[in-house]
Amino acid sequence: MEFYELVRRRRSVRAYKLDPVEEEKLMRILEAGRLAPSAANKQPWHFIVVKDAKVKEQLRKAYDREWFVKAPVVIVVCADPSAAWRRRDGEEYWKVDAAIAMEHIILAAANEGLGTCWIGAFDEKVVKEVLSIPEHIRVVAMTPLGYAAEEKGPVTDRKPLEQIVHFDKW
Ligand SMILES: Cc1cc2nc3c(=O)[nH]c(=O)nc-3n(C[C@H](O)[C@H](O)[C@H](O)COP(=O)(O)O)c2cc1C
Repeated sequence: MEFYELVRRRRSVRAYKLDPVEEEKLMRILEAGRLAPSAANKQPWHFIVVKDAKVKEQLRKAYDREWFVKAPVVIVVCADPSAAWRRRDGEEYWKVDAAIAMEHIILAAANEGLGTCWIGAFDEKVVKEVLSIPEHIRVVAMTPLGYAAEEKGPVTDRKPLEQIVHFDKW
């Protein structure tokens, strides 16, 4: 799909079909995440692909929505803060890096005709327990991945450019 059209068409999907996601599509989507830019090219991310129905059901303890675990795949984007770039004033960039990779994944999924929904409101402790994620690793975002079972129009509910763009000064 043409890029700007893709950006307009991508929506958060909260209803999924049970149809599986083709392996080639999944791998292209993960590859798009791998190619994301990161501060000092540190690539501090890890992607966990969950397909096992029992594991997905356990993830529900971290984010209790039927549609979240009904999707055939859940992708969990993690970051290793100890592997990420840190600015001289101490500002950490692992969350920014992982968020960029997540957005690559989400746009690539839309390009493959697949739905996603960025999940931020999860219980991180539970996700880490369920997926045996090491102590020092942070969970930044999760998304279901699958074919949408709902029709959504393009993005409309955004602030106009005049409210958010500043030229030359604030
Ligand atoms: C950082 C972040 C966290 C989000 N967390 C959740 C979430 O926990 N649950 C959910 O249903 N949607 C979540 N969303 C989706 C937003 O609600 C959604 O992107 C926004 O309302 C705009 O709608 P659209 O994605 O359909 O354009 C999140 C999105 C972002 C970027």
